[in-house]
Amino acid sequence: MARLTRALLMALATAGSATAAPAESTTTTTTQNATADGLHSLMVKAGKMYFGTAIDVNNFADAKYMAIADNKNEFGMMTAENSMKWSSSEPNQGKFAFASADKVVERAKKNGQGMRCHNLIWYNQLPSYVTSGSWTNETLTAAMQTHITNVVEHFKGACYAWDVVNEAFGDGDGSYRQSVFLKNIGEAFIPLAFQAAAAADPDTKLYFNDFNLEISPDKAAATLALVKDLQARKIRIDGVGFQGHLVVGGTPTRDALATSLRQFTALGVEVAYTEVDIRFESLPASSSGLEQQAQDYAALVGSCLDVKECVGVTVWQFSDKYNWVSSVFKGKGDACLWSADYAKKPAYDAVIKVLQDAISSSGTSKIPGFMMDEGVFFW
Ligand SMILES: *[C@@H]1O[C@H](CO)[C@@H](O)[C@H](O)[C@H]1NC(C)=O
Ligand SMILES: *[C@@H]1O[C@H](CO)[C@@H](O)[C@H](O)[C@H]1NC(C)=O
Repeated sequence: MARLTRALLMALATAGSATAAPAESTTTTTTQNATADGLHSLMVKAGKMYFGTAIDVNNFADAKYMAIADNKNEFGMMTAENSMKWSSSEPNQGKFAFASADKVVERAKKNGQGMRCHNLIWYNQLPSYVTSGSWTNETLTAAMQTHITNVVEHFKGACYAWDVVNEAFGDGDGSYRQSVFLKNIGEAFIPLAFQAAAAADPDTKLYFNDFNLEISPDKAAATLALVKDLQARKIRIDGVGFQGHLVVGGTPTRDALATSLRQFTALGVEVAYTEVDIRFESLPASSSGLEQQAQDYAALVGSCLDVKECVGVTVWQFSDKYNWVSSVFKGKGDACLWSADYAKKPAYDAVIKVLQDAISSSGTSKIPGFMMDEGVFFW
């Protein structure tokens, strides 16, 4: 897949706003307007690179789902929810399996959507040969490097960014999370992973990605220290992903979120929200709860607008039908922008409004500066 020229890049950035949503009429809500700008189109007009979503190949048979997922007016950047993770991409040692992930990449490519690729090194969703293997530092380092090299090279040219290391810190105090990698390699697994990814693809953006950076000062401090350590050792890190798995009514304000993002951009890395869902802790949601969720989504998206080096927002599935929360936390969920039957929720309208407000207050629609500066966007 060839590197895009700047002209193509600009076409990619703006195409979504010009095309009507071909299949929107198949959705059930009465608020549809096929000619109105959607999430991605408005995000680009507001000066950002993308609004994106995680999708899963298992949902591709759902026509209503795909009508929204395929619509670049709504989503300009896709993430494979599961199929690039180690358990999917290298289920047996040295035997790589890319068919599912390739389907996601091909679909995005057909739609003119980019890819955020996710993820290379994570403590979870590992095959048992990794978690139960008898490793030494040397053998696990070699297995990790082989995994990273093969996966990154396979998707080379397709990934705007890679989540190189995912969720390396524990839930509360900023200590390193226990994992097979930490146990055998020590904290060195992180710089080693970034070095391997950089060697495999010099052009994709390399991200560290974690949750609760929005709400845990200890975790944010540990992550800042990690970024500084990599930079001091001249190991490339380009971005930090704020996952954005948040709770209705427990989401920080727009200003507080922007302040958290700026701690990182002050170090010279870009930031993005990478896995946003804002869940209810108990269901069913009340109408005031849906309004609170709308305000929380608007605060989060607004904070990205307020920080120049925040490149975009990705939601972790767009419909309550397929969001992971309800299957992991019983009785919780409804964390997405669309309901389980594909009606746009108040949160969707609130995100549209925060984007429209930003565009009208900035006067004219802009082409994002960071794309002009760097001209790097790949297929
Ligand atoms: C649909 O959106 C377009 C563009 O924002 C607007 O001009 C038009 O009035 C809208 N139509 C309806 C029926 O709301
Ligand atoms: C594992 O090896 C790396 C060098 O590849 C080294 O930096 C690190 O300290 C070692 N880890 C442990 C726990 O000895």
